[in-house]
Amino acid sequence: MTNLKPLEPHDIISSGIKPTGVLHYGNYFGAIRQYINLQDTAEAFYFIVDYHALTTLPTPDTLRVDTFRMALDWIALGLDPDKASLFVQSDVPEVTELAWIFSNLLPAGDLERGVSFKDAKQRGDTPNAGLLNYPVLQAADILIYRGSVVPVGKDQTQNIEIAKRIANRFNRRFTSDKPYFHPPRPWVIEEVAVVPGLDGQKMSKSYNNTIAIFEEPEVLRKKVMAIPTASTPLSEPMDPDSDHVFSLIRLVGDEETVSSIRDSYLRGGFGFRRAKEELINLLESYFADARERRDELVAKPDVVRDAMVAGAERARVRAQETMRDVRELTGLNWKNAAR
Ligand code: TRP
Repeated sequence: MTNLKPLEPHDIISSGIKPTGVLHYGNYFGAIRQYINLQDTAEAFYFIVDYHALTTLPTPDTLRVDTFRMALDWIALGLDPDKASLFVQSDVPEVTELAWIFSNLLPAGDLERGVSFKDAKQRGDTPNAGLLNYPVLQAADILIYRGSVVPVGKDQTQNIEIAKRIANRFNRRFTSDKPYFHPPRPWVIEEVAVVPGLDGQKMSKSYNNTIAIFEEPEVLRKKVMAIPTASTPLSEPMDPDSDHVFSLIRLVGDEETVSSIRDSYLRGGFGFRRAKEELINLLESYFADARERRDELVAKPDVVRDAMVAGAERARVRAQETMRDVRELTGLNWKNAAR
């Protein structure tokens, strides 16, 4: 869609992952799969944004557990912590210092026009100052690792625009010859096909029509069996193209399987119950490997922990380099005056 310019060798990928909710198929096919594939393309920093999550004031337990679970899920789904740095945002606290410095480069009005903040106000909420400043922290997230490419959903383009503006303002104000920050560009994934939910609408937590990637088998069965279908008599042909069960089959089945199931639909005498059984098998086998890896990681949480700690150490080295430069460029180095 927008900006799928191929990455350059000097590009650095940086993106934040919100530690909320249980991952579903829509998250996977719509985003995670492509993000994980980027690990083979360029240097990448992926961080679970626990500071950002504080804007919704989760309980401490929820925050801890959701943060850890997100790390576990991403590694189970194929993120290789030896290729990309995966870590928790607050393990690199320097990012909050950069956010403070950045917040002075942006008129407050720009933040009041931020979509999340504006929407919250329109809903009649009284959003906190954390939500107002959210985009500034996001800009610091990206730029502290010198990120130039930001894989994000379409809803994030405004935030990336703000990061770009901050990078340019910083360069203009504090550098004379060579710009210091690369203005980042969004890398928005083309939605090849909208991932359908259980009711045929786009799969989304807000529609309550999701199938979790790591759904318990009994829950998966119940959900699939409850998908509404046409009242075609068993002996008659069924229409695959208007059927939600079939659109999910198409998502997770290989070509051959999908076309043979399609034939069964058209032949008649097949029935939605069997179609649903097929779907359950396909869903289960699609993520069987990831599920197995996940079970292993659950049994050995130290593996996840160590990977995250190592990721944070790598990221922190980069962040501290940036902060040394930024402090010098902005005059937060008074000792140089006293020499
Ligand atoms: N705001 C992003 C979201 O809602 C999460 C995020 C935080 C992020 N920091 C980031 C994304 C930095 C990209 C880069 O999904």
